[in-house]
Amino acid sequence: MDQALVQIQPAQAAASLIQTANVPENLSTREPSGAGNPVAKHPASGEASAAAKTFYIETFGCQMNVHDSEKVAGALFAKGYRAVSTHEAADLILYNTCSIREKAAQKVFSRLGAFKKRYRESGKIIGVLGCVAQQEGERIFERAPQVSLVCGSASYSRISELIDRIERGEPRVTGLSLDTDQCFETEITRRDHPFRAYITIIEGCDKACAYCVVPMTRGPERSRPSANILDEARKLVDAGYTEIQLLGQTVNSYQDPSPTRLNFTGLLVQVAEIPGLRRLRFTTSHPSDFSPEIVRAIEAYPVLCNHIHLPVQCGSNRVLARMRRTYTREDYLQKIDCIRSSEREISVSTDIIVGFCGETAEDFEQTLQLLDLVEYDQVFSFKYSVRPKTSAGSMEDSVSEEEKGRRLLILQEKQRQIQLRRNQGRIGQRYEVLTESFQPKLHQATGRTASNQVVNFPGEAAWAGSYFTVRVTSAGPNSLVGMRADPV
Ligand code: 5AD
Ligand code: SF4
Repeated sequence: MDQALVQIQPAQAAASLIQTANVPENLSTREPSGAGNPVAKHPASGEASAAAKTFYIETFGCQMNVHDSEKVAGALFAKGYRAVSTHEAADLILYNTCSIREKAAQKVFSRLGAFKKRYRESGKIIGVLGCVAQQEGERIFERAPQVSLVCGSASYSRISELIDRIERGEPRVTGLSLDTDQCFETEITRRDHPFRAYITIIEGCDKACAYCVVPMTRGPERSRPSANILDEARKLVDAGYTEIQLLGQTVNSYQDPSPTRLNFTGLLVQVAEIPGLRRLRFTTSHPSDFSPEIVRAIEAYPVLCNHIHLPVQCGSNRVLARMRRTYTREDYLQKIDCIRSSEREISVSTDIIVGFCGETAEDFEQTLQLLDLVEYDQVFSFKYSVRPKTSAGSMEDSVSEEEKGRRLLILQEKQRQIQLRRNQGRIGQRYEVLTESFQPKLHQATGRTASNQVVNFPGEAAWAGSYFTVRVTSAGPNSLVGMRADPV
């Protein structure tokens, strides 16, 4: 099976999850897909001998990056490396980076700067992976001479070979080719979450949104053959995972390259039919490729979670066109109508950029109006950040930082009120909750509904990974509070 080498079994891993995975209270200020916060560190593991070389990997950004780190960790375990939880204890230190916004990209250089002098002569191997690696390439060696590996995500299948070359004495090694029609084979992925498993189904992106670095950092779109995905999903369920999340920058653009020729919904349905799977999620959907078929599948398969993340980015047609988003406000609202008219209640979240080049007060007003029309359950909002080599990089960044900040606050306050109203409407309802973590001081368990609402309820540490029915007793803008409603 694909985790044979390194898989932590769900039951064993629950304790380490409780120490590290923290469901934040204020989820609307947490950065989501493509963010830039350090979100995962591979915990220490005793799977190899004490004499084995050690690695430390820190991940910034989106779920795709988190999952990429799991793939890299798998390759390192296969080489006999052992994971440690501090960079001080590691022979190999890796930063898996995000460059979606400037601040995110800067974080890795501040990390590297912190131990520049100490580590230059230490014999440790330091590597920069991911989007900053792909975008900055060999310039990283000039800016941070202590780095000896620079590798973008399209080259992770070669990571083992690249590290071998450094170990043999090459001082500087790169993996920067985007010229790949292949996806990473995931036989040795080392998953870091005890009951939720990510599966990449499509890598790269062929859309060309004017503000976005992803097509440059992750390369062209390539879908994995459906048989590989289904095989991986079955093995994960057999290994005890109850929730699977299918990943892709534009997950719903999936097109099976094998003769089976499944489209995204076809694949979704086949994964949903795997016996033993309890929750199936997918992210991120692109509005232009969003079809009513997806809503029909959510209606037909209770396993498919009733939550869709559908980034709109802006509510003004003028700005959407400048962003090259390939849909209009009206097209988008039609998709929302389709979701809202479903016989199953489906929650919707989105991403919004404020202050994109040329965004006027009137354009921004249209975004605020869109929030009222759609009534999202969650909005991830960002100030526009100019990124090198994007087509918007040559446009005038006309909205001042101060004005971007002002618009962001207005938007977030409006959305806070919408969420509070929607969440208060949930008081008294019962939801199935998958318990994710536990706060001992509060004796409180935290979990998620299938519709992705965070729920806090009196609980026990041992409940992580278990499903309970919880009745909602009170609600804030970002989370619900409840009590178990089923017999203990
Ligand atoms: N500036 C600000 N936000 C951005 N995003 C992508 N590129 C930029 C940028 N240059 C946001 C989009 C995307 C999310 C992952 O990050 O909203 O959906
Ligand atoms: Fe970036 Fe647009 Fe592709 Fe999303 S669809 S990854 S925003 S280029």
